Amino acid sequence: MAEKEVVETSEAQIAVHWQEEGYYYPSTEFIAQANMSDKGIYERFRLENFPNCFKEYADLLDWYEYWETILDTSDAPCFKWFKGGKINASYNCIDRHLKDNKNKTAIHFVPEPIDARYEHITYQELYVRVNEFAALLRDFAGLKRGDRVTLHMPMVPELPIAMLACARLGVIHSQVFGGFSGTACADRIIDSGSNVLITMDAYYRSGSLIDHKQNADVAVEHAEKDGQKVDKVLVWQRYPGKYSAKTPMVDGRDYFVNDLLKNYYGARVEPERMNSEDPLFLMYTSGTTGKPKGCQHGTGGYLAYVTGTSKFVQDIHPEDVYWCMADIGWITGHSYIVYGPLANCASTVIYEGVPTYPDAGRSWRIAQDLGVNIFHTAPTAIRALRKIGPDEPAKYNYHFKHMTTVGEPIEPEVWKWYHKEVGKGEAIIVDTWWQTETGGFLCSTLPAITPMKPGSAGPGMPGIHPIIYDDEGNVVPRGAGKAGNICIQNPWPGMFQTIWGDRDRFVDTYFARYCKDPSSKDWRDWPYLTGDAAVEAEDGYFRILGRIDDVINVSGHRLGTKEIESAALVVPEVAEAAVVPVAHDIKGKEPDLYIALKPGCEASDDMAKRISDAVCDEIGKIAKPRKVWIVKDMPKTRSGKIMRRVLGAISNKADVGNVMTLANPEIVEEIKAMVQK
Ligand code: PRX
Repeated sequence: MAEKEVVETSEAQIAVHWQEEGYYYPSTEFIAQANMSDKGIYERFRLENFPNCFKEYADLLDWYEYWETILDTSDAPCFKWFKGGKINASYNCIDRHLKDNKNKTAIHFVPEPIDARYEHITYQELYVRVNEFAALLRDFAGLKRGDRVTLHMPMVPELPIAMLACARLGVIHSQVFGGFSGTACADRIIDSGSNVLITMDAYYRSGSLIDHKQNADVAVEHAEKDGQKVDKVLVWQRYPGKYSAKTPMVDGRDYFVNDLLKNYYGARVEPERMNSEDPLFLMYTSGTTGKPKGCQHGTGGYLAYVTGTSKFVQDIHPEDVYWCMADIGWITGHSYIVYGPLANCASTVIYEGVPTYPDAGRSWRIAQDLGVNIFHTAPTAIRALRKIGPDEPAKYNYHFKHMTTVGEPIEPEVWKWYHKEVGKGEAIIVDTWWQTETGGFLCSTLPAITPMKPGSAGPGMPGIHPIIYDDEGNVVPRGAGKAGNICIQNPWPGMFQTIWGDRDRFVDTYFARYCKDPSSKDWRDWPYLTGDAAVEAEDGYFRILGRIDDVINVSGHRLGTKEIESAALVVPEVAEAAVVPVAHDIKGKEPDLYIALKPGCEASDDMAKRISDAVCDEIGKIAKPRKVWIVKDMPKTRSGKIMRRVLGAISNKADVGNVMTLANPEIVEEIKAMVQK
């Protein structure tokens, strides 16, 4: 068992503290049309009925062979769902819809408004394009069932096409968020052992055409230095024949997909009959160490869970136009832009660019143009749109019946603006709390059944049984008004299966802390540690306060403080680095980076910039520190540990507490004078 972690600074400690709010209720009109209005669902999914209750989710899918064992715990806590079942995710998201819905739009693509029109891809066209690309991957790239392939793609339809082509072949895809640097992409290529990289030459963001291909060159070079050979780089062209990558193509390694595809026009690929527990994809996420973790998601369990939650929580009907504004490079996009909506035969919207360019009305114009009626975004975007365009939603003629927020706690004031202005007082809101690891929602209200409460994520989803433990392992009872570590008592089908190639880290990080018996094969002995702090109100609603570990949530994006610190250490003069989260009114949190230099090194004028640039190069611009503070020394305990808690308090202008027990208490005043001046 791992030692109990000592958390020195964390988001939870600087969490916004707001008052409990009253309930908001859905309209009778919404309830009448909802996919799930049967209050009995909570009863059916209570703990006594676990795990058999999840049959209801599995039955939303088409199986080649129906499963035999609903939950196999023989390798606990690596749980296997729907064991014995044979299934294909690509088939469930495409082929099974062709009989009745082949002419229905599967994907609406909204490019940046340069000179391109919206694209509307029907299920039939998606079928054709996925098959052709799958044939290329199989016959040209030599990929086969069980191989890993890294994708580093921007937000274009070719991204879900590539994911679904992989799924068709049983190839495990690992999409790296397009905004990550080439170096960050290399780490994921190496860890997953990918020999093929799929990328795109360029994409638009805020009016500029960004050369993305250069990241592939950096990624391959880094990976190869580390012994991971990348044989083929498959480069989609954003505008074939019109623009091309500024970076040159490497002969014998780099290929334009658009050229190769001509050889596969008309090709059809029979979907692989995958075992339910075979991995579908890897999604890397930040943790407490510098190395991102490859969360391995399975096929049958994951697909069942995202299909069910899309249907019951997102309330997607065949006639709805659903827009989740996330990036497919994060788990939200995988589960709730691609797999969940497409498995439900929805029309899902993908857009390029940002919501605030060319103006703050862009999102509402898109909603009006496409008739979007289900909208899904993060508090960061809502805060930004509220700040720069508070009156914009009223100018457009759209009507949302349903809206989601995800990724960070939402302040009640922001929630109310979202409800009144964006939702025009008509839309219900679900606040969905979950994680990369969990595949799908953990806490949320069910839109027609459980009332909304601003600032609160809601109760556990049906079949998800959260519990709050204190640091000693005692249960913090409902309504106690005390925060603690929120865990989930039971596994669920959407849960990740392991960390790719590192079962020990999986067990240590997520289960060791509250495991009742490490040799047990009983799921009851393996509560899942989420890494968040939460409070459970009397009504069973959970208010999420933020991370208890070394993870920062910046604009709803998860970054490891250790990852940023390791990136800073690439600069030769840097001796020590410490990252702390700072509250920000739009982004939620931002990283502040404290640096101590090696003896004899002087802080030059460009030092802070060089360090900040190094972080962007190593990780990507999303990790750019708010400020780099070069300090004479770090505040340290007598045993030499950096006191990040003290630095966090200084950055957030909070009380630093008693520092007299530190080895160097005098440095605290010095840093305070520098930061708070
Ligand atoms: O701290 C929680 C926060 O985001 C973390 C998970 O980040 P990631 O794996 O990137 O997945 C984000 C999208 C699911 C959580 O540990 N978080 C997520 N949703 C919420 C949230 N915090 C408060 N309220 C939410 N609705």
